[in-house]
Amino acid sequence: MKKLVVSILVLSLVITGCINKKEVKETKKEEVNSNSNSVVIYFSATGTTEKIAKRIAKQANSDIIEIVPKDKYEDKDLDYNNDCRANKEQNDPKARPKIKNKIDISKYDVIYLGYPIWWGTNPKIILTLLDSYDFTDKVIFPFCTSGSSDISGSVSDLRKYNSKLTIKDGKRFASNSSEHEIIDFVDRSNIEMNSLNKETSKMKVMIDNKEYTINLEDSAAAKKLVELAPFETKMEELNGNEKYVYLSSSFPVDSYNPGHIEQGDVMLFDNSCLVIFYKSFDTPYSYTKIGHIDNLPNLGDKSVKVKFEE
Ligand SMILES: Cc1cc2nc3c(=O)[nH]c(=O)nc-3n(C[C@H](O)[C@H](O)[C@H](O)COP(=O)(O)O)c2cc1C
Repeated sequence: MKKLVVSILVLSLVITGCINKKEVKETKKEEVNSNSNSVVIYFSATGTTEKIAKRIAKQANSDIIEIVPKDKYEDKDLDYNNDCRANKEQNDPKARPKIKNKIDISKYDVIYLGYPIWWGTNPKIILTLLDSYDFTDKVIFPFCTSGSSDISGSVSDLRKYNSKLTIKDGKRFASNSSEHEIIDFVDRSNIEMNSLNKETSKMKVMIDNKEYTINLEDSAAAKKLVELAPFETKMEELNGNEKYVYLSSSFPVDSYNPGHIEQGDVMLFDNSCLVIFYKSFDTPYSYTKIGHIDNLPNLGDKSVKVKFEE
C-alpha cells in the first residue's frame, strides 16, 4: 500500500514536473521594508515556493523573510522514494527541525506563510516556526506549492496544532501560476483584513446567565441584530458545535462560504437563522457574518437561554 501511494505521488510529480533538483538555491535573502505591516515568511527546499513568495511580497508590498533551516536540505534529504530525512521528519510527530535565522514578527499584523507540501501537509519546520514566536495577534494567510496536492490538509493540520491562531484558508500555487492568481490572493487577503478591522461595535449577550461580548461586524445584518435587541430566546443545540434559533424577522444577507468557522463566531444562516458556534471546524456552508464572541467556551450539548442586550 505504501509503495502504491509512493508511486502515485511520484507519477503526479513527474506529470506536473514540479521537482527540479537544479532549482536548489545557494543564497538566502531577506528584504525588510520598514513601513510594511505585512510580511511573507517562507520555507523553500528547492526554490519553487521561494519564487511564488517573492511574487506575493512584490504584489502585497510586503517584507519577505526566509525560514533558513539550520541543517540545509540536500538532494538526498528530499529523495522521498527512499527513507530520506524529509520523510523521517514527516513521520515523526516530535520532529522540529531547527531554524538558523532569527525571525522578527513583532511589527507585522499580516503574515503570508509559504511552504512546499510534503506528504500532504506542511514540512515540520513550519511547526518549529509556530513554536518559536507568538503569532496569536497575527492573521496568517498560508500559501504553498506542490506537485498536485492542495493546501487544505496542511491548513487544517496547522489549525489543530495551535487552535489559538488565526489561520485563513490560504492557496496552493503551481510553479507557473499566473499573475492573476497572485493578485487575486493578495486582494482577497486585503478584503478579509478590512472586514476584520471593521469589527468595532460591541453587543452584550447573556448565555445561560453568563455575560459575553459580541464584537460586531460593520454589516447590515449586524445592525439588524442591534435593532432587534434587547430580546431573549432559546437557542437549540446542533451537531455538537452550534446553537441556533430561527427568528421571525428576516435579515439582510451577504453570505459567503468562510471555509472555516472559529469558536465564538456569530453567523446568520439563510436569512433568519441566528447561529452561535462554540467549536471551530471547516464548513462547506455559506453564512452572513454578524460578529465574534471572544473566549466563548464549549456550550455543551443542551439548548441554551440567550439574551441579546442593547
Ligand atoms: C519529501 C517530499 C514530499 C512531497 N510530498 C508531496 C505531496 O504529498 N504532494 C504533492 O503534491 N507534492 C509533494 N512534494 C512535491 C513538492 O511539494 C513540490 O515539488 C514543491 O513545489 C517544492 O517546493 P520547494 O521548491 O519550495 O521546496 C513533495 C516533495 C518532497 C521533497
